[in-house]
Amino acid sequence: MLQNLIATFQNVFETNEHPRCFFAPGRINLIGEHTDYNGGYVFPAAISLGTYALATKRSDEKVRLYSTNFAETGIIECSLDQLDYIKSDDWANYPKGMITYIHKQTKKVLTGMDILYEGNIPNGAGLSSSASIEMVTGILLKQLFAIQMDPTELSLLGKKVENEYVGVSSGIMDQFVIAHGKEGYAIHLNADTLDYTYAPLDLTEHTIVIINTNKTRTLASSKYNERRQSCNKALKDLQRKLTVSTLGEVTPTQFEQWQHVIVDDIHRKRARHVIFENERTKQAYKKLTSNQLDKFGQLMNESHVSLRSDFEVTGKELDTIVEAAWKQQGVIGARMTGAGFGGCAIAIVENTHLISFKENIASKYKQEIGYGPTIYTPKIVDGARELTKERMV
Ligand code: GLA
Repeated sequence: MLQNLIATFQNVFETNEHPRCFFAPGRINLIGEHTDYNGGYVFPAAISLGTYALATKRSDEKVRLYSTNFAETGIIECSLDQLDYIKSDDWANYPKGMITYIHKQTKKVLTGMDILYEGNIPNGAGLSSSASIEMVTGILLKQLFAIQMDPTELSLLGKKVENEYVGVSSGIMDQFVIAHGKEGYAIHLNADTLDYTYAPLDLTEHTIVIINTNKTRTLASSKYNERRQSCNKALKDLQRKLTVSTLGEVTPTQFEQWQHVIVDDIHRKRARHVIFENERTKQAYKKLTSNQLDKFGQLMNESHVSLRSDFEVTGKELDTIVEAAWKQQGVIGARMTGAGFGGCAIAIVENTHLISFKENIASKYKQEIGYGPTIYTPKIVDGARELTKERMV
């Protein structure tokens, strides 16, 4: 596969040079949704669906970007001193943003470059295709230009690109797990302190299934920003009674005691989700690491209910697929994953029931929604890295 991509690279950029090859995964989140930008815990893992990038340095200042996923757009060309956000550049804004910030931060050690991208993460499905492009670009720049930067610094830069360059107020989860992923492990991350622990996903008799609802996410970023504002308002109200700097510091007991000071009913519901979800995420880590997979699954289910009723980011498609999943034999737990508003759900399923699980939920979903879901069973893999003969994806 990489051989074909190398040939495409040489063809597109009309060169005989041999590019260096990189890969960054996408991610799922097992539990801990909309908690990261509230200073809470998340529990994601890096998956084998991801983004490849092939790159060579140039002797001039030209930056040429090409994606086989958007071949009709052709090469997007800019120069190192002209990398401003341009809406019509679409996907290319993610690499442009990374190059901009790394260029600034490293006091201009970069030269021009040719980069070809190819991704197999379904677009807009909530599996972090954009963070994957950012992180593959980050690792590529680090390796190509011998920049000293650890995975945490790279992920913080990726977040900055989302927040300041693209304008989505997302948290640190996606970039962090894509940079720090570890084969066979999920990451229990405190999004406030960035302390993290790897938890083995020892699922020999179970499979993590990703189910894409194939519902196009509409207005996802504006609704996301709106949720974030609601959380901030709820926090302000609670701060009249509690000395806390994030919702992640509020315990469920404190919430029960002080929830009445949150003036707006909607903001109160949003805060309730965040505070209880944070608690569930801490519990989930304990359950997973003490082999109580059933309890872990229950927490996943509770998470979905809270995202449906209190945070209101699920919608008909995600609810239909998750409710269908709950009814199947051999299901440990199921919930939406990522930001919501469409996108993907995940389920943990006993291997012996995997085939019937897939068939049953697909047919139930098609019957209710009118079109089918797409189902993936990717591996849990290492974070963003250079690909060498010894070490492929
Ligand atoms: C998106 C954001 C993350 C996180 C999730 C919701 O994936 O990029 O930072 O907030 O939504 O948990």
